[in-house]
Amino acid sequence: MDIALFGFGCVGQGLYDALGQSHGFKAGIQKIGVKDRHKPRKIALDHFSFDRHEILGRSDIQAIVELVDNAEDALDIVRTAMQRGLHVVSANKKLLAEHFSTLFQLQQDKGVALLYEGACAGSIPIIRNLEEYYDTETLRSISGIINGSSNYILTRMDKDGLDYHTALAQAQELGFAEIDPWLDVAGFDPKYKLVLLVVHAFGVIFKPEAVLNLGIQNISAFDIEHAALKGQRIKLVAYAAQHGNQLQAYVLPRLVGHESNLVNIDNEYNAVEIEGAFSGKQLLVGKGAGSYPTGAAVLSDVAALSHQYRYEYKKLHQNIAANGHGLHELHTDFTLRLYIRYTHETELALLDIKETIEQYTSPRAKYLIAEVGFASLYALQGKENKLFVAVV
Ligand SMILES: NC(=O)c1ccc[n+]([C@@H]2O[C@H](COP(=O)([O-])OP(=O)(O)OC[C@H]3O[C@@H](n4cnc5c(N)ncnc54)[C@H](OP(=O)(O)O)[C@@H]3O)[C@@H](O)[C@H]2O)c1
Repeated sequence: MDIALFGFGCVGQGLYDALGQSHGFKAGIQKIGVKDRHKPRKIALDHFSFDRHEILGRSDIQAIVELVDNAEDALDIVRTAMQRGLHVVSANKKLLAEHFSTLFQLQQDKGVALLYEGACAGSIPIIRNLEEYYDTETLRSISGIINGSSNYILTRMDKDGLDYHTALAQAQELGFAEIDPWLDVAGFDPKYKLVLLVVHAFGVIFKPEAVLNLGIQNISAFDIEHAALKGQRIKLVAYAAQHGNQLQAYVLPRLVGHESNLVNIDNEYNAVEIEGAFSGKQLLVGKGAGSYPTGAAVLSDVAALSHQYRYEYKKLHQNIAANGHGLHELHTDFTLRLYIRYTHETELALLDIKETIEQYTSPRAKYLIAEVGFASLYALQGKENKLFVAVV
């Protein structure tokens, strides 16, 4: 198998090392596409090219691996490669979630594979499990911790008493965070992954903008202490579940107790819980970010390509046969019980509070436990909002 690699950063170098040390599988990297001509490289410069069109025009490659940090460039690289009949492996969840319908259609039209295990929960083999093992089972829900840097921040705040900004800086230093950490801490990154999981778990395509994501960017030490007093911890949880003919899907912080499988998932670890109608609950745990865990998932995809593996999207094809497009409405007409920490009462005006269960005011903080209409939470998305909200 001869391939070209785009991107030689955190994940690209992880893949390079993992491939070099793999005993069972060999692939030749014919060229590595990068951007910065002045950056020092740890391997000889003749491995690199700065011309993506020269690489994509080569006749000696069957596939490309796209590991660049720029979604627009990545879209051009992936689309051009597929149009030229090249198979693609990508770890770029933003690109995949935002352009899913187009990229799905290109796979069908060009007969090429697009694999993206590394885009979802790092080293956890979740997409292929959903495709191959759970393809025949009706799933009730899929949920989990699928953003390594947020989980790292929450763990360090909880266990070491670090403040939010120090914990975030550590996550960035360790290579867990996206270039723009807002994507992680505000819950966009796990939302993109959730969109991909929903395709394979339920056969449904959601546009990312339809899925609610509230993150941990407003969390304080008070919130962590509040959870601890109740014997709970705060985790950022992505959740999708079947409700009749509709699906609920959202990313929200959640107070989890010791009965939850997610309570002891710490640092950059991720966990995905699948609940099947027949199989019951199952949990997959592994490192959700970082050079080698993600590189290992990408390597597994490259090896899968070498024996002609591709996603069959069985559940999606069933839905397309039933409704013509596979797109679905989200179920948003329900209430959630929430912990809401606020500074001024006016901040609560955006929320459709149906019932207040508990109200707390002290010089240090104010919070409510309340039943809130889910649809009103969309108004909290954005940098100007300062509330911290968690599912109780
Ligand atoms: N880091 C993780 O733990 C992790 C986990 C899962 C998925 N991912 C995803 O994996 C992808 C790569 O992430 P990363 O952390 O490896 O990023 P990174 O360390 O910032 O590296 C990005 C690489 O992309 C290259 N690049 C940027 N624009 C390019 C272009 N137009 N043509 C060719 N190369 C270009 C850069 O080139 P230069 O070297 O010249 O700057 C660099 O080598 C992203 O989509 C990310 O979301 C990352």
